[in-house]
Amino acid sequence: MCGIVGYIGKREAYPILIKGLHRLEYRGYDSAGVAIISKEMRLNVLKAQGKVSDLENAAQGKDTCGSLGIAHTRWATHGIPSQVNAHPHLSQSGEITLVHNGIIENYATLRAQLLSKGYTFKSQTDTEVLVQLIEYIQKKHHINLTTAVRIALNKVIGAYAIVVIDSKEPDLLVVARKSSPLVIGVGEGNNEFFVGSDASPIAEYTKKMIYLKDDEVAELTRGEEVKITTLNNDKVDICIQNVEMDLGQLDKSGYAHFMLKEIFDQPDCITDCMRGRLLLEYKKIVLSAITDYRDRLLSAKRFIIVSCGTSWHAGLIGKQLIEEFCRIPVHVEYASEFRYRNPVIFSNDVVIAISQSGETADTLAAIELAKKHGAMVFGVVNAVGSSIARNTDTGIYTHVGPEIGVASTKAFTGQVTVLTLLASALAKEMNRIDDEYFTSIINELSAIPDKMRLVLQKNDEIEVLSKIFTYAHNFLYLGRGWNYPVALEGALKLKEISYIHAEGYPAAEMKHGPIALVDSEMPVVFIAPHHELYKKIISNMQEVKARNGNIIAIVTEGDTEVKQIAKTVIEIPNTLPCLTPLLTSIPLQLLAYHVAVQKGLNVDQPRNLAKSVTVE
Ligand code: M6R
Repeated sequence: MCGIVGYIGKREAYPILIKGLHRLEYRGYDSAGVAIISKEMRLNVLKAQGKVSDLENAAQGKDTCGSLGIAHTRWATHGIPSQVNAHPHLSQSGEITLVHNGIIENYATLRAQLLSKGYTFKSQTDTEVLVQLIEYIQKKHHINLTTAVRIALNKVIGAYAIVVIDSKEPDLLVVARKSSPLVIGVGEGNNEFFVGSDASPIAEYTKKMIYLKDDEVAELTRGEEVKITTLNNDKVDICIQNVEMDLGQLDKSGYAHFMLKEIFDQPDCITDCMRGRLLLEYKKIVLSAITDYRDRLLSAKRFIIVSCGTSWHAGLIGKQLIEEFCRIPVHVEYASEFRYRNPVIFSNDVVIAISQSGETADTLAAIELAKKHGAMVFGVVNAVGSSIARNTDTGIYTHVGPEIGVASTKAFTGQVTVLTLLASALAKEMNRIDDEYFTSIINELSAIPDKMRLVLQKNDEIEVLSKIFTYAHNFLYLGRGWNYPVALEGALKLKEISYIHAEGYPAAEMKHGPIALVDSEMPVVFIAPHHELYKKIISNMQEVKARNGNIIAIVTEGDTEVKQIAKTVIEIPNTLPCLTPLLTSIPLQLLAYHVAVQKGLNVDQPRNLAKSVTVE
């Protein structure tokens, strides 16, 4: 989704802004723009539909000099992707310009009011309304930029992260947020400041970060301390955090795509995720969140998992793990439905919010709702310092490193690993899991990274297989028990990046409808490793075979039965049934990846999708 970069200091702003925009490309966008105030106080705005490289081409030979600037990648919400609708948007006089992430919900009302005052609009965006409103207020009351921004934001309903500059105040960058993240990077000696919609575009310049909170406005003035106030102009204490980011994770390290790199990173990511938590030597799982909130967690009568997309699929596996190990009921909810459904939430519920980005708007809203009802909120988040991480009572980071490919891969296996650790550790605290089973989980979990490496050796085999399916229009993914959520995830991966329609289903449900789709043209992927429902899934496979379906099966190594039925089998190493999703998901990631590559599609930034879904 939209991305923001800002800079004020002594260096040339343009290269910093462009590099930052490239760092934000992973979020998904359709146009880009930059605005810079020159030494002569001239405001230059350049915009382009398409990629950041298109913006760079458009900027060739144009004046991009100046040490104060803002930049943006836009993911269209109001108005088509176009140069006119791209940010930064200019005020009527051409003096003020801003970039904005989020949605101004009452923009139509504000627009009508401004039209009646003689303001005109070039774009179809909600953002242009905000910049005109700021200028209208500034001119009407003869006030400075910050005060005008504050008054304007008090009139706005919706979500925003904004960075505003005014050519009449060339030493100032004003930033503000509500329900959309914004990070300020503090450079050396207050001589320079950086702004980002997340830490990735600014992490190479400074580790000192300030995460702006809702309803806060920050003034970044050259050579002065950061000043933060609320929308009511109350002073806010400044909290600077040290944020470490492994910038190596932000490049492809020789892989053709971020997605492929992230698939191959999984063994190391899972090792990082378990480090210091799974103590093999002592046969223990240590999670500080459980130590700190032990009584609250142990007295919970119910868990509710809220999340979206891939994180929701991980939640479905989490439900099975917690119910199986702890014998506590777990409900898994789409955050977008939960937030508007008036759900029953008890104060002794524990709500687990799962999110890679930590910025998903619906999940954040579900958290707020849970808090309103007094429930404890537990985060399973990847992005350190993100809004969800900061808005939950406690939680466990997945620690799989920044995920750049829009299609989630390592974040999914990280989430499933964390949920396995959580469920096992809780069950142990509750005395609801026998020692032998607990020990076997620990032993098998610690062997998972190496087993993942073995699955990754199937990459070439899967690449060859993918060529057969490039022209398929539909796919079915079927699984049962632990691997039903994997079927959903496999289907989601394929449709996201290959644009092939795919449905995930519990295998036995197939005969209640989807079986009507099965014919010799239909590829059907069965996730059928050895587990409790293995025999049952064999019967489901026979039903597909009887209708000439083209079966691809993920099986445990040494399997002989499925080989008799399926056209193609991909083997994974043996493990405990509850851990199979950590292995079975990998061939499905690779299959989706290679099909998309064969089709010549943009794997890392598929059409219409955004990495961080910061609007509802
Ligand atoms: O950052 P989150 O985990 O909260 O994101 C949730 C979904 O938007 C995300 O998983 C999405 O479905 C991915 N593109 C899936 O690959």
